[in-house]
Amino acid sequence: MSNTNNNIHGQWSTRLAFILAVSGSAVGLGNIWKFPYITGMNGGGAFVLVYLACILMIGLPILMSEVLLGRMGQKNPIETMRTLGIQYAGSGLWSLVGILGVLTGVLILSYYSVVAGWAMNYVYLGLSGTLDNVDAANATLIFTGVVSSPTNLIFWHSLFMISTAVVVGKGVVHGIERSIKILMPLLFLLLLVLLGFSIVNGDAVSAFYFLFKFNFDLLTAEAILIALGHAFFTLSLGMGAVMAYGAYLPRGHSISRLAISIVFVDTIVALIAGMVIFSVVFANDLSIGQGPGLVFQTLPIAFSSLPLTSLASVLFFVLLVAAAWTSSISLIEPAVAWLVEAFSFSRQKATYFIAFIIWMLGLLSVFSFNSLSEFIFWKGTWFDNFDFLTANLLLPFGGLLISIFAGWKLSFNISSSEINTTKLYWFRLWRFLSRYIAPVGIMIIFLDGLGVI
Ligand code: PHE
Repeated sequence: MSNTNNNIHGQWSTRLAFILAVSGSAVGLGNIWKFPYITGMNGGGAFVLVYLACILMIGLPILMSEVLLGRMGQKNPIETMRTLGIQYAGSGLWSLVGILGVLTGVLILSYYSVVAGWAMNYVYLGLSGTLDNVDAANATLIFTGVVSSPTNLIFWHSLFMISTAVVVGKGVVHGIERSIKILMPLLFLLLLVLLGFSIVNGDAVSAFYFLFKFNFDLLTAEAILIALGHAFFTLSLGMGAVMAYGAYLPRGHSISRLAISIVFVDTIVALIAGMVIFSVVFANDLSIGQGPGLVFQTLPIAFSSLPLTSLASVLFFVLLVAAAWTSSISLIEPAVAWLVEAFSFSRQKATYFIAFIIWMLGLLSVFSFNSLSEFIFWKGTWFDNFDFLTANLLLPFGGLLISIFAGWKLSFNISSSEINTTKLYWFRLWRFLSRYIAPVGIMIIFLDGLGVI
């Protein structure tokens, strides 16, 4: 492996390190903040079913393809796609997949950082005692207080961007590896504690029915598009993050098994978060469709009836920040790697440059909750539009191209030896999903969701 690569990402020391790094990227605000609130806004059960189907039939094969392409190309996503494109498809234009991915990562991080800033703010609120004995009315007031002040939001957004940039600037794979090994199990444990709590104190039965009772009347074409988009968002697919990480996976490991463990962890975390949050929602007669504030307005209520209230809420929001942070690193990495390689920027300079652009863009999301909240176009505020454009259009579009490339441009022999499944039929299944189900599925959901058909 060349020096350039080591400078950019470092190398995963073991198979477990790779699983943890990709799970760290996958598990983030998407699972705990976004999944519950979009499920609430899109009617529950049927939406969850479509999301799970998209994860299995579209997300899983594309996750495998991204790892596969990254490991074959051994470079940042733009270079990887250019080299593989020339080699297997006769055109360097495939690098556009990487370029699109870099842009998408920048756009996503701009609003992701604002939400991660809310979580940081809640750590502070927990420490200062504001989250003690919160009831439903209080919880709403606290959240409104947080988002209505631009200076407050800018402060936390800046702090989150700086902490991401400092770490990425240093090139800290080993730091990430080490912290993820502790943080991920801790987050999981705390979610299990919360799940136990919600079964005892919340309305877990209603939550379960809401998540798993399929009421197809509530399912619109746009909801299906959002479910597809979220499958990409939650697995970090379609923008090259996994491709960049795949470049450091030693050959010889079975990609299918790696991918299945990552999908499993990611999905379980989202479903548990959904159970916890909706148990609290139903037990306290809160509204399911309250949007992006959902997790911030429900969990403090749950914590209030736990022993060690402040400790539980501080711990939870610290872990949420940590989960967001390991995802944000993978969102900015393709852009940084590209600046370093294509323009010979130093790693630090590249990071601060990109982080500054992202920070500026993020201001539009900051103002979406206060001064610009009345400024509505297309899907809503700037924040809503960034979210819809990236998660529901750009990521699935990137995924479509990746799937077509891996399924149609790589020959049977090449991809089967690279994917290295234990049984040939698993490989055949991957290839069938990549060639037909994923591309056709994405195209139909696109056209339908955008009202074209
Ligand atoms: N998967 C992350 C989450 O669920 C978000 C993300 C999207 C990260 C795309 C990287 C790339 O929070």
